[in-house]
Amino acid sequence: MSTSPTPVDEAAPRTGSIGSGGEPIHPSGDERFRAVDAAMNRHRYQQDALIEVLHAAQKAFGCLAPDLLLYVAHGLKLPPSRVYGVATFYHLFTLTPKGRHTCAVCTGTACYVKGGEVLKEAVERATGIHAGQTTSDGRISLESARCIGACGIAPVVVFDGAVCGRQTTRSTLERLEGWIGHGDE
Ligand code: FES
Repeated sequence: MSTSPTPVDEAAPRTGSIGSGGEPIHPSGDERFRAVDAAMNRHRYQQDALIEVLHAAQKAFGCLAPDLLLYVAHGLKLPPSRVYGVATFYHLFTLTPKGRHTCAVCTGTACYVKGGEVLKEAVERATGIHAGQTTSDGRISLESARCIGACGIAPVVVFDGAVCGRQTTRSTLERLEGWIGHGDE
């Protein structure tokens, strides 16, 4: 998380700006804040809706940047440390932008026994990044997962959300080569 101070008031919802339809407008003019506002409104700004609100915020913005976390903290009247803590605790949240493609290698027990760790190391070598990182060109994000419930087809790799079982180093790298070589394949 950036250490640059972001005044809470700068990120806070303001009610002074009203759109032509009577709806409040975020001072930045960024329409994506509407989805965050709608989620908080739907849950009546209840603090125990934090995970749902963060989910909506990530869906709208792609990741949970520090100013967005502060915006949610102010909206739900929660300490920023609590919001940050939840955002970093759950695997489904990310504080940095994801790459165009995501490769998640399962390293749970069944996949580990069937070579999941070997797959992960091969992917790391091919991409030059470690799990939890994104390539500098923004093409590929690499993740590791702890059992995704498909142990019967271990070892498993998830490419852009598609679960692929019985992976070999060769089949996994072939898929990645398409992404590395052409970006959108
Ligand atoms: S351990 Fe990989 S899917 Fe269960």
